[in-house]
Amino acid sequence: MKTVTLIKGDGIGPEVVDSAVRVLSAAGAEFEWEERYAGVAAVERGEDVLPESTLESFRRTRVMLKGPLTTPIGKGFRSVNVALRKEFDLFANVRPSKSLVPGGRYEGVDLIVVRENTEGLYAGIEHYVDRRKNYAESITIVSREASERVIDYAFDLAAARPRRRLTLVHKANILKYTSGLFLEVGREMAARRTDIEFDDRIIDAMAMQLILDPRRFDVIVTTNMFGDILSDLCAGLVGGLGLAPASNIGLDAAMFEAVHGSAPDIAGKGVANPGAVIQAAALLCAHVGEAEAGRRVQQAVERVIVRGDVRTPDLGGKATTAEFTDAVVREIS
Ligand code: NAI
Ligand code: MG
Repeated sequence: MKTVTLIKGDGIGPEVVDSAVRVLSAAGAEFEWEERYAGVAAVERGEDVLPESTLESFRRTRVMLKGPLTTPIGKGFRSVNVALRKEFDLFANVRPSKSLVPGGRYEGVDLIVVRENTEGLYAGIEHYVDRRKNYAESITIVSREASERVIDYAFDLAAARPRRRLTLVHKANILKYTSGLFLEVGREMAARRTDIEFDDRIIDAMAMQLILDPRRFDVIVTTNMFGDILSDLCAGLVGGLGLAPASNIGLDAAMFEAVHGSAPDIAGKGVANPGAVIQAAALLCAHVGEAEAGRRVQQAVERVIVRGDVRTPDLGGKATTAEFTDAVVREIS
């Protein structure tokens, strides 16, 4: 039996992660879950924000299902998510957005945002130049090596999809060296990958075009912060954060989670939509060779959402987390 490191996370984390674990078990994907702690939950247990026992488990299992972690805003410890992505070199953050809710704002959207996950403006090189004058700076990092591997990953992803399209998003007109390098690498690779229809967009124009007509996009690849923002935008196009899963892929390790955070405003109320984490769990299945179970889980979520009688409040329904989970489990069995 495959061992998987499990972090339930903060806020709604434990509610939605427990739901995903139940659904996987119903689909016959049996894992040995090794529960570990990180972030606020670890600190409350008197441990480090990212305890050695968590790192040790992930180093061994190489696969993790993770609930959202609360990151203090503007002060306190650095993001544990960012630390995990860097420590295990999880270079590609892959975020699919597909229209499931009929009659929603957009139908027929089926795109994937691939976000560079290890550098950019989130490299954490930030400091006060002069605290008394209230002057701070932050440095963005773009390397050819990291750009090549994430763009290469995006090309391969596009090659496996029917439309075979890749759009690279940048701001090379202003950030000529950093964003410019990312674009240069993409264009060089595109010249060799003639099997893929490649184009590029400037980030601000891209935000507008995604709202006007998201259907024309297939795979999108971009740097860390643009990808963070665009993937939430894309989640909004297809019904919100409750339905948006993410995989963090490295050469020899992978972490699966929801795009959303710990949602403190609804934590503990039993109404969070577990759809995002359940779909992340389906991606995990595919990653560890349980593709059939992954497909069944994904299809079950889609059928329950499309049918529409059991939806959580974020999708306009009245169902609780448990009721939605029950419906998905019934759909599988
Ligand atoms: P959030 O994603 O937690 O919440 C934004 C809004 O979406 C809230 O109104 C929330 O109720 C709603 N929402 C999110 N997930 C939902 C779900 N499954 N079902 C129904 N409604 C849902 O973003 P926010 O409030 O900015 O961040 C809260 C905390 O989460 C912060 O500490 C942030 O750093 C952290 N965070 C962690 C992430 C991770 O661990 N990967 C990702 C994003 C944020
Ligand atoms: Mg985000």
